[in-house]
Amino acid sequence: MAQASAYPGTDSAGPAQARTLDPDATVTVDRSAHAGLRALAHDAGRADEMPDEGARAAWAEHGAVMAAGLPPDVHRAVARFRAHGAPDEALLLRGLLPDLPDLGLTPGTLTPSAVSGDARFAALALLGVASLLGEPFSFRSLYGGRIVQHVLPVEEHRVAQTSGDSTDLLWHVEDAHRPDRCHYLALLCLRGAPEAVTQFASARAIRRMVGDRWARVLREPRFAVQPDTAHTNGVHHPSEDTGGEEKVCVLSGPDEDPRIRYDAIYLHPADPGDRDAAYALHLAAEAADATAVGHVLEPGEVLVLDNRRAVHGRTTFTARYDGTDRWLLRAMVCADLAAHRSRRGVRTLP
Ligand SMILES: [Fe+2]
Repeated sequence: MAQASAYPGTDSAGPAQARTLDPDATVTVDRSAHAGLRALAHDAGRADEMPDEGARAAWAEHGAVMAAGLPPDVHRAVARFRAHGAPDEALLLRGLLPDLPDLGLTPGTLTPSAVSGDARFAALALLGVASLLGEPFSFRSLYGGRIVQHVLPVEEHRVAQTSGDSTDLLWHVEDAHRPDRCHYLALLCLRGAPEAVTQFASARAIRRMVGDRWARVLREPRFAVQPDTAHTNGVHHPSEDTGGEEKVCVLSGPDEDPRIRYDAIYLHPADPGDRDAAYALHLAAEAADATAVGHVLEPGEVLVLDNRRAVHGRTTFTARYDGTDRWLLRAMVCADLAAHRSRRGVRTLP
């Protein structure tokens, strides 16, 4: 269950009306690329990322090969996004997979035993895009360690504030409690839902809107963050002790290009009596509401978000739990190749 915030006003449900994504942050992919991607996926044979690290390493390598099938426009757009970012710190690839006739039913679990048909093809294509940004990885404590994760509604997680939730997903960055959280996340839509608006807001816009005084508070290490429930069934990690121990900042980096660490549910003032810190978080959520961009993901689209420079969330949608629900695939990326190497290239971190 989602925890109620101890600080009224910090758990904004997001804006009623978000802006639409800047057309310059959108690439419409030529249909002709599709056949080449299918051929490369076929070459992956029966490879699957389960059940262990060795399988996942091979799976990620198949993903890297898929990048060769992506058209030049996608390579160019991702290279530009990597080097220069984008006004909203998001990049949308429209029509990457225009035909997915063999999708099968939306799974009823976040950890299906294996993917097949077009879901498997899409998983490899997503890894192709992810490979252009860095190294796909995940955590052992998250959805069985899968590096391609299933974002779909699960009845028992209906209001859990995780990928299995269908109620408003409040503003957050992915895995705020982890210092080694992803630099980018990429979402590929297999099956959409018209009410599910994916929303995002840049740290730069939030910083501007909260003003100098409250930005200074957000830059101070006076916040604590706890692991979200998506991780709590997993192994223990020292960073999970940060609630009440390590103090973290919400904003960091240069004012003109700030980084953000935020979670409306799991990040709080380290001192429960710190009213200024609570108010600064409230303002940050309001600023995200006021500056947000919204996009309803369509089947075959990939949305890439910079997890260091933007927060994201999603509006409520109706889940039926009958195999026809909204279904996304998600990949998380480490853009620091030296860090990835120093972790011995492990795809599923402890
Ligand atoms: Fe998320």
